[in-house]
Amino acid sequence: MNVIESLQDYVADNLSLLSPIDQAWQPTELLPDLTAEDWSEQVQRLRESSLVLPDELLVVLVGNMVTEEALPNYTVSLEHIVKDPTGTSETPWAQWLRRWTAEENRHGDLLNAYLRLSGRVDMAAIERTIHHLISNGFSPGNEGDPHSGLIYAAFQERATRISHGNIARLSQGRGEENLARICRKIAADETRHEVFYTRVVGELFERDPENTLFAYRNMLRKLISMPGSQMTDGRDPNLFDQFAAAAQRIGVYTSRDYASIIRHLNTAWNLERRSFSGKAARAQDYLCRQPERYEMLADEIGGRIAEQPPTRYSWLGGRVV
Ligand SMILES: [Fe+2]
Ligand SMILES: [Fe+2]
Repeated sequence: MNVIESLQDYVADNLSLLSPIDQAWQPTELLPDLTAEDWSEQVQRLRESSLVLPDELLVVLVGNMVTEEALPNYTVSLEHIVKDPTGTSETPWAQWLRRWTAEENRHGDLLNAYLRLSGRVDMAAIERTIHHLISNGFSPGNEGDPHSGLIYAAFQERATRISHGNIARLSQGRGEENLARICRKIAADETRHEVFYTRVVGELFERDPENTLFAYRNMLRKLISMPGSQMTDGRDPNLFDQFAAAAQRIGVYTSRDYASIIRHLNTAWNLERRSFSGKAARAQDYLCRQPERYEMLADEIGGRIAEQPPTRYSWLGGRVV
């Protein structure tokens, strides 16, 4: 039995991090009620309140939505690790994967519906981007290594939580309460998911310390790319970089957040206190230095990321940001 499979009982103990379906929120609760008599007033109110959102924030929101909509890719990449051989297996890992997917599936749905109803964006261009992104696929850059796939998941759940949380804060600040509520709901899901993957990797550090350590070290040797990095609208070859630049500029997801995630994960996984020797001790030492290193480099990296010339966005019907 490999170490991932050996985690079935551990996963079973943590399935409670998922919401029971009858208690879970659904996108409809956070959107205008189209069956109501005053549906058009409700839609009108949403459209009016979305007018306070600046184009740059819309770009980042669209990028986040497109990333969520490429969920099939993330499920495929995790299935490769945790295995649901029949598609309806009852193993804890298979249950986690399907129920996690079902929770995540609401994120793209909800943001998609909000953006569509707002009338502020070109949905056809956005749909084309989603189509491209799912077709292009996704790789956490680990050549299929299961340890790094799960480390990537822990990192990304925290990154998306930060990102949705910051959009909530910025919309609230501008008085767009609908979107703030939507993004807070999504961020709360990401938090539960983050706890799960962080615990699972913590357990991997207990059961298979060296392989987990080397996997983490190998990931941090490169920059951990965001899951939507293959996104394109078929026209702008720099679309993803433009989106990342906007996120950096308005403070939705920044190089400082990147550094803070690494610091958080190192602490959560008790990296400094573990005892390793030889090559592993050197990898441990390398990892322990990364939070400070990224914090020191954050402004420089952030400056580079933010530097993008104004672009004409197909997502915004050709408006320039
Ligand atoms: Fe999500
Ligand atoms: Fe997530």
